Amino acid sequence: MPTFYLNGDYVPREQALIPVEDRGFIFGDGIYEGVRAVEGRLYEWDLHAERMVRGLAGLRIKFGVAEVEELRGVCERLVRENGLEDAEAFLYLQVTRGAAPRTHYFPPASTTPTVFVSATRFVVPRAMRDNGCSAITHEDMRWSRCDWKTVNLLGSVLARESAQEVGAYEAILHRDGVVTEGAATNVLAVIDGVLRTHPLTPRILPGVTRIVVMSLVEELGIPCREIAFTLDELSRASEVFLCGSTTDVTPVVSIDGATVGSGAPGPVTTQLRTAFEARLYALASATR
Ligand SMILES: Cc1ncc(COP(=O)(O)O)c(C=O)c1O
Repeated sequence: MPTFYLNGDYVPREQALIPVEDRGFIFGDGIYEGVRAVEGRLYEWDLHAERMVRGLAGLRIKFGVAEVEELRGVCERLVRENGLEDAEAFLYLQVTRGAAPRTHYFPPASTTPTVFVSATRFVVPRAMRDNGCSAITHEDMRWSRCDWKTVNLLGSVLARESAQEVGAYEAILHRDGVVTEGAATNVLAVIDGVLRTHPLTPRILPGVTRIVVMSLVEELGIPCREIAFTLDELSRASEVFLCGSTTDVTPVVSIDGATVGSGAPGPVTTQLRTAFEARLYALASATR
């Protein structure tokens, strides 16, 4: 039985209950984070915490830097309590505006945020990393503040389900033919020899993995431009890959049933995947 953290307590699943009037439940009025842990060590905590603080401030939920920072210890304790110190784990953190009688406008200032954290075992899908995955393209139906990691995920849920239904891993989203990101990943593509990805605008989530990948791109001297690309350009990309906190760097070898490049992970993707994994496992041990 997993132990969860809810509003200051460490409790078994059946005691992790929230009131039906919680605004996370009613409106999706909250912010979440997903953090990787390797052998008890949180990966890039500071970047996740900063993004969470930005999102909460964006939604004007009163839960600031100090409160988010306290969740670091909560995550570490949950990893221990759930026996995950020797494994890889995924930490899910969620803060909502709290429970109050339903009104579209904000509840009384005395309403306290609901804070939930869970830690689950994460098993790296090595075959998919090695051989690549398939993806579909899908309309980006989300709102205009995708840079805030809100718990409103219907645009992503419906797109991912469409991918799942045809046996694909990811849905690559586009707005009027311009590729934004994946349903739960950032998307990069090698087009005419240059690595391209959507720039950091409110149209995409500023992925923590994307930040790490972009620093590796610079270190390795890989030609790269943060300029959005179209579906048409995507269809002639020689390489495409996804990145995210549980996706790491995963090659995409087919899109909408058409083969990408040679149909195998390409050289730029492989170079970045190797460098990324070296850093993931090394940084984790360095911060122990
Ligand atoms: C829409 C979206 N884009 C990108 C990402 C990747 O972000 P990160 O690398 O911080 O996990 C996620 C992760 O959940 C996501 O939901």
